[in-house]
Amino acid sequence: MFPVSWHPYLPVLFFLCLADHLHTSGVIAGTNELVYNGFSADLKLDGKALWIDDLLSLTNGPGGTSGHAFCRYPLSFQDNPGGAISSFSTTFVFVMGFKQYKGNGMAFILSSTSDLPDDSPGEYLGLPHSNLDGHAFFAIEFDTVLNPEIGDIDDNHVGIDVNSLASVESQTAGFYNFYGEFQTVVLRSGERIQAWVDYDSKLYQLNVTLAPCPSFKPQLPLLSTTVNLSSLLSLGPVYAGFSASSRKVSSSHYVLGWSLKVDGVAQPLHNSVSSFDTAYELQNLSNFEFPRKMNILGVPLIVQAVILIVLAVLICRQLRKAKEDDEWEIKCGMPSFTYKDLVTATEGFSNKMLLGKGGFGRVYKGVLPTTTQHVAIKRVSPESKQGKKEFMAEIAILGHVRHRNLVQLLGYCRYKQELLLVYDYMANGSLDRYLYDKTTPTLDWAQRLRIIKGVASGLYYLHEDWEQVIIHRDIKASNVLLDDDMNGRLGDFGLARLHDHGVDAHTTLVAGTWGYIAPELARLGKATKATDVFAFGVFTIEVVCGRKPIGPANTSGGLLALADWVRGTWQGGSIVDAVDPELKDYDRAEVELVLKLGLLCSHSLPRSRPCMRLVMLYLEGGARLPNFHPASLVADGHEDEETDHKALSTSAATTVTILSGR
Ligand SMILES: *[C@@H]1O[C@H](CO)[C@@H](O)[C@H](O)[C@H]1NC(C)=O
Ligand SMILES: *[C@@H]1O[C@H](CO)[C@@H](O)[C@H](O)[C@H]1NC(C)=O
Ligand SMILES: *[C@@H]1O[C@H](CO)[C@@H](O)[C@H](O)[C@H]1NC(C)=O
Repeated sequence: MFPVSWHPYLPVLFFLCLADHLHTSGVIAGTNELVYNGFSADLKLDGKALWIDDLLSLTNGPGGTSGHAFCRYPLSFQDNPGGAISSFSTTFVFVMGFKQYKGNGMAFILSSTSDLPDDSPGEYLGLPHSNLDGHAFFAIEFDTVLNPEIGDIDDNHVGIDVNSLASVESQTAGFYNFYGEFQTVVLRSGERIQAWVDYDSKLYQLNVTLAPCPSFKPQLPLLSTTVNLSSLLSLGPVYAGFSASSRKVSSSHYVLGWSLKVDGVAQPLHNSVSSFDTAYELQNLSNFEFPRKMNILGVPLIVQAVILIVLAVLICRQLRKAKEDDEWEIKCGMPSFTYKDLVTATEGFSNKMLLGKGGFGRVYKGVLPTTTQHVAIKRVSPESKQGKKEFMAEIAILGHVRHRNLVQLLGYCRYKQELLLVYDYMANGSLDRYLYDKTTPTLDWAQRLRIIKGVASGLYYLHEDWEQVIIHRDIKASNVLLDDDMNGRLGDFGLARLHDHGVDAHTTLVAGTWGYIAPELARLGKATKATDVFAFGVFTIEVVCGRKPIGPANTSGGLLALADWVRGTWQGGSIVDAVDPELKDYDRAEVELVLKLGLLCSHSLPRSRPCMRLVMLYLEGGARLPNFHPASLVADGHEDEETDHKALSTSAATTVTILSGR
C-alpha cells in the first residue's frame, strides 16, 4: 500500500527490522502501522518543526509560531466504502518545557489533511481554529498555558478535541497509580512523558492514558469517553501526526518515539526511547545552532552596513507591530470571526439590525452565514480605547466561562481599530424593558422568581463555582437578558470598564451603576463578591417591586433608595405591600422571602450580606432566612471604619479579582 521507494534508507531500515524487531522506524508497508523509535522517520514537517539529529522537534527555532509533523503516508481505517471502521492504538513519548524553553503545548492529531495552516500559534497549539472547509480533525491536546499574558497562568491539562478547539472532555494531566490514586504529571517539566491513545470503533470508546517515563501503562486511563470518530475516519485518507505551538521565542516540544497501529495494539516503544537520558541528550540542544540563511559576505562593506541598518529599522518596526498584535491575540484564547462574516451577518451593519446603543458602541443582531446561528454583535467604537488591554484579558477568561444563566460570549473579531464581540442572541431582550416599558406585557410572579433564581445561579457560578472568582461589577436589570424561555441570563460582564465616562451618565468612576453601588465600594472603590451581592440584592427588590433602584421620595421631593423605601414599607406595616402593583396574583410567602433576602443582600455592612451559596439555599428553600428586624439593616453610626475595612480586605483577599481596578 505504501510505495517502496518512500525512503532512501529503506533497505537499512529493513535490515534493522530484522536485526531488532522493536528498533524500527517508519511506516511498515501494508500494515497501517508506524513505528518511530528515535531516529528519522519519514515525516512531513512544516512550520517550525525540524529534525535535530534524530530527535523530532516541533517548535524549535527562533520566533514563536507553530509546527506540524505528519506521517507522509495516509492511514486507512476502512477497507471499502461503507465498511466497518477500524479501531486504532498509538503511543508516544514526548518532552515539553526543557530548560527555560517554554511552549504552549502540543497535540497528537488525526486529520483529513496534512496541510494545516501555519496560523495557529500560541494557545491554538497549531491546530485549526475551527473546522477547516470540509476537513475534519481529532486531537489529544497537552495544554500548558491558560493564557500566557494574564500572569502567565500555567495550565496543565489533557483534552480531547473533535473538529474544534473546545475540548469534548479534559482532565488535569496525571495518572491513576496502582492504588487508584490520582497523581499529577507536570506536562511542561522537561521530563519524558509517555501517552497512550486507544480507540475502540465499535464501542466508540476513547481512552487516553499518561505516565512519566519509564513506567508501565497505568491500568486506569486518565480520560475515557465516548466519541464517534466514524465520520473523520471514513473520509478516506487520514494523516496522523503532531502539532505544537509557542508564543515565546524559544520553546521545546520534542517527540522521542512514536508507534501507531490501525486495527491492533501499537508496538511498544524501544527501551532506548523511554530510558533516554533526557537531560544529557537534550543538553546538546542548547548548543544547537539553528540554520542561518543570510550570507552577505562578498558584498562591499558599505553596502553591508546599509543593509544592516535597513534591516535593523525594519525589524524594529516589525517587532513593534508584532507586539501590538500579540497584545490582542495572546490574551484571547477565543475563536475569532472574520470581519467579512460579521458584515454579512448584520447586512453591512444596517440600522435595521441595530439592537441598541451604549457608551461603548452599538449592538447589532446578526445571523452567522455558515451556521445561520442568531447572534448579538457588539461593535466597540474605535474611540473607546481605554482599557483595551484589560478588556482582552477579560474576553480570554469569559470565553472559558459557560453557564445557562450567563450570556455566552462566542468569540470576537478585530478589524483595524475596531473590536467586535459576538454573543448568543437573546430573543427577548433585556429585563428592564419588561419591568418599566408599559408596552411590553407584565411578567407574572413565577416568571420573576425564575429570573431571580437564574441570575442568582449565574452569579453563584461566577463567584464560587468557576476556577477563579469573577466579580461582575455591574449587576442590574438592564444587564439581565431573557432567552427564548424567559430565563434570566446575566450579560455584559466586566464591560463596565468599557463604558466611556461621561457618555452614560449613570456610570460612575467606580465602575457600576448608581443605586446598585455598595456603600463601601463608593467609599473605597474596591469591588468584591460582597459588592456584587449588594447589587444583586437591589436587583432582586427591583424585580419584585417593579421600581427603579433610586426613585423620587413621596414627601420631600428628594430621592430615595428603593431598599430604604421597602424597609420603610415593612416598618410601616407589611413588607408585601411593596410588591409591584401590576402583580395581581402572587405567593405572599415567596414575595416576603425574596424581599427580605433582597434587603439582607443590600445590607450596608459587607460582612452581614450572605454569600451567593447561601442566597441560593434561601431561594431554593434549603436553608431558612434568619429572622431579622428592618432596623438592623442599617449600620449604626458607631460602626468603626477599621473593622469594616478589615472585613472588606479579608474578603478581597479571597478574591482573585480578574477584573481588578484600573
Ligand atoms: C478503556 O478503559 C476501560 C477502563 O480501563 C477499559 O475497560 C476499556 O477496555 C478501554 N478501552 C479501550 C478502547 O482501550
Ligand atoms: C457515528 O457517526 C456515523 C457517521 O457520522 C454515523 O453514521 C453513525 O450512526 C454514528 N453512530 C452513532 C452510534 O452515533
Ligand atoms: C553532544 O554533542 C557532541 C558534539 O557536539 C557529540 O560528540 C555527542 O555525542 C553529543 N551527545 C549526545 C548525547 O548526543
